[in-house]
Amino acid sequence: ITVLIVWAVVGYLLGSIPYGIVLTRMMGLGDLRNIGSGNIGATNVLRTGSKKAAALTLILDAAKGAVALLLARFISGEDAVQVAALFAMLGHCYPVWLRFSGGKGVATFLGIMLALAWPVGIGCCLVWLFAAAVTRTSSMGGLAAASSSTFLLVGLGYGYALLLGIALTILLYVRHRSNIIRIREGTEPRIGQKG
Ligand code: G3P
Repeated sequence: ITVLIVWAVVGYLLGSIPYGIVLTRMMGLGDLRNIGSGNIGATNVLRTGSKKAAALTLILDAAKGAVALLLARFISGEDAVQVAALFAMLGHCYPVWLRFSGGKGVATFLGIMLALAWPVGIGCCLVWLFAAAVTRTSSMGGLAAASSSTFLLVGLGYGYALLLGIALTILLYVRHRSNIIRIREGTEPRIGQKG
């Protein structure tokens, strides 16, 4: 159990690094909290006008989830993997550095799925691309990708991780509350729109 607590802490700390904020500050792109949705994720970084910063945020936010999981897998084995993954996601969504008000978890979720079970991860990325292309909104892509993960995990033979998939999906939905309200109202901004 001590090992699992250590992985919870490591996962949380890795997940809590707010790359969107770090990069936009370093690149002098203004205060992300006062732009668009105010979120720290790649979608909102894109609203600063910098595709490069947005792409880097996407990659690094995904990588931190994958790294937490892979470290746990190589050092401690499969039990630690799910704990590290869950806490990396919690760290991203509720980072202590931002008074527990963090991101919405889509990139970190995709990174976790790619490292956990790459066929599921690829499937989730494809669902994101498809849903985002059809609706032109990033949040719909994220919500659809997360929802599909539970089916993909079971369908592709990774049912052992179903509970993790469900937990991450619930977290992602909770963090998208304001987006879901805007989607219902028809006011959710399209990708790249200032919002
Ligand atoms: O990755 C977050 C995305 O799904 C929505 O971001 O900034 O449009 O609320 P945003």
